[in-house]
Amino acid sequence: VTSAIAPVRWEHDRLVLLDQRLLPAQELERVYGRWEDVADAIRTLAVRGAPAIGVAAAFGVVLAARTSTAMTFGALAADLDVAFKGLAGTRPTAVNLFWALDRMRRALESLTDRPLDEVRARLLKEAQAILDEDVAANRALGEHGAALVPGRARILTHCNAGALATAGYGTALGVVRSAHTQGKVAWLWVDETRPVMQGSRLTAWECVRDGIPHRLIADVAAASLMARGEVDLVVTGADRIAANGDTANKIGTYALAVLARHHGVPFYIAAPYSTIDPTLPSGAHIPIEERDPGEVRRVGDRPTAPEGSPVYNPAFDVTPATLISAIITERGVVRPPYRFSEGG
Ligand code: MRU
Repeated sequence: VTSAIAPVRWEHDRLVLLDQRLLPAQELERVYGRWEDVADAIRTLAVRGAPAIGVAAAFGVVLAARTSTAMTFGALAADLDVAFKGLAGTRPTAVNLFWALDRMRRALESLTDRPLDEVRARLLKEAQAILDEDVAANRALGEHGAALVPGRARILTHCNAGALATAGYGTALGVVRSAHTQGKVAWLWVDETRPVMQGSRLTAWECVRDGIPHRLIADVAAASLMARGEVDLVVTGADRIAANGDTANKIGTYALAVLARHHGVPFYIAAPYSTIDPTLPSGAHIPIEERDPGEVRRVGDRPTAPEGSPVYNPAFDVTPATLISAIITERGVVRPPYRFSEGG
């Protein structure tokens, strides 16, 4: 199955984002011309998923360079510095954001004192390369991961690590897509993924669109499915992987990893190298985003709790490396003990 879902793309000098807040009810693309609006789109989850956030931010830098009225390289670099900081301040957990911004900054620094038209063109090229490389990485890791999937597999996933969460094809859902192409997927159990419902709104939407057999479940159903032997493997994406393999991903992932270990079910993480942060020795150092209490007090616009109830709403949790059977990357399948180092 190939996927034509393109959540982030560059068209006619503008960034186009498929507004993921509106899915599955509405498929609406929005056009962005200012980096500040891209930052807002990242913050409010119009674009989300670790690699997709990185790609969108890279194009945000491109827009900042294009809208800047600077006449000298130094003035442009000063304007871009504001954009780099603003884009970096949107969401703290997914390292792909900072990885992509670092790449853009290095591209900028390599062009010191070059003509501004050349700088702008080169930044666009770099952002496009980040996008293209992400799609290629997902296709490669999808193939590597599919080799781990047995025939007639019932796979469970959490959140959305699909085409929507990346530049295209997906990480965890990329593995499912590749395995499905090989005829190995009986069906995908799709966790609905409270509080923001990325599973039911986005993963199920991708499955319907691409004809991937699936069954939607409430998050709380996973334990009894595993107890009944109805899950052959779990695969999820990642927002940041520390040097020792500890992995931050959508809240609820850790619970699945504990359940999988208890029931003897393989638990895999699928992610490109841009999600690995070798500068952090362990998951204890990964910053965990806390989001608006309203996400927990409501489902969509509908209140499901008293407005006065205090809320704790961490968007991510950390799964210790000891619970992860393997990490599926574009370079191959990595088994424990994990020791990621700078430069790969
Ligand atoms: O809050 P979100 O929707 O950005 O969280 C996304 C996830 O947790 C994904 O699993 C992760 O970013 C990997 S996406 C390929």
